[in-house]
Amino acid sequence: MSDPAVYGIMGYPIKKSLSRYMHDAAFDHLGINAIYLPFEVEPGQVENALNDWIATGVQGGNVTVPHKETVAHAIKHLEGEAATLQTVNTLVRSGDEFIGYTTDGQGLLRSLDEANASPTGKRIAMLGAGGAARSIAAALVKAGIDQLLIINRTESRAQDLADLVGAPAAVGKNSDIKSVDILINATSLGMNSEALPRELEDAVAEISDHLVVADIVYRPRNTGLLQAAQEKNAKTIDGLGMLLHQAALAFELWTNQKAPTEVMRSALLAASE
Ligand code: ATR
Repeated sequence: MSDPAVYGIMGYPIKKSLSRYMHDAAFDHLGINAIYLPFEVEPGQVENALNDWIATGVQGGNVTVPHKETVAHAIKHLEGEAATLQTVNTLVRSGDEFIGYTTDGQGLLRSLDEANASPTGKRIAMLGAGGAARSIAAALVKAGIDQLLIINRTESRAQDLADLVGAPAAVGKNSDIKSVDILINATSLGMNSEALPRELEDAVAEISDHLVVADIVYRPRNTGLLQAAQEKNAKTIDGLGMLLHQAALAFELWTNQKAPTEVMRSALLAASE
């Protein structure tokens, strides 16, 4: 058999990444001779890592925290939202270079759709204005939402993001949460602890049972925010759906084949337990 095609993920740290379980299961399921490897790339080493990937024949991969913006600046060709937002989570090889894409925002949209919580025509409040929030905001605006209120610790970043994605986005505050349909936590607050972060308490105080609350944090799966929302009888959507669907979309860019989403979901659920 010929050597497998190599796909990678670069991030720092990278040990806990769950992506390889999904992609290896998908390659295996479709009989594609390929492997997916984690690469721990320290800040400052991104350009070297990209050059190494090209030199050693890596066919594509993913980029995760904290390198999504650095990679967007380091490569010449960015497609679609990756160019407007200057963030890359997926690389596809074309000759001797990589083309950069972002599938994060579409991944979140698919996760909402799958939970019967399509954002189209809805009012949304989003916590955060960082890299993840940028992809999500752009995808929501594209999906035809009624309103997006961006709530962020640093208000000027919320304003910058609202300006970037345009109407119907605007800067919001926690008290706006009671008048929206969907609340999305697009910050990393709540990661690695079951407890509700103090910084989210004011937002939680505004949650009531008509709201859908989605979290992009997936470790723990049932975050402190989602637990608090469940106590108020709100519907909740955890972060594994976004992780799964951004991966499925990346897989399709690499292989031009339909991703075996259910195979990837099973692998992800098994690995995240
Ligand atoms: P990522 O690319 O993962 O989104 P980021 O660009 O560093 O990461 O953005 C992190 C987001 O979480 C930001 O919206 C940040 O708020 P600021 O813009 O004010 O920095 C938010 N965030 C992180 N830690 C926070 C905290 N302790 N309290 C409130 N917001 C926080």
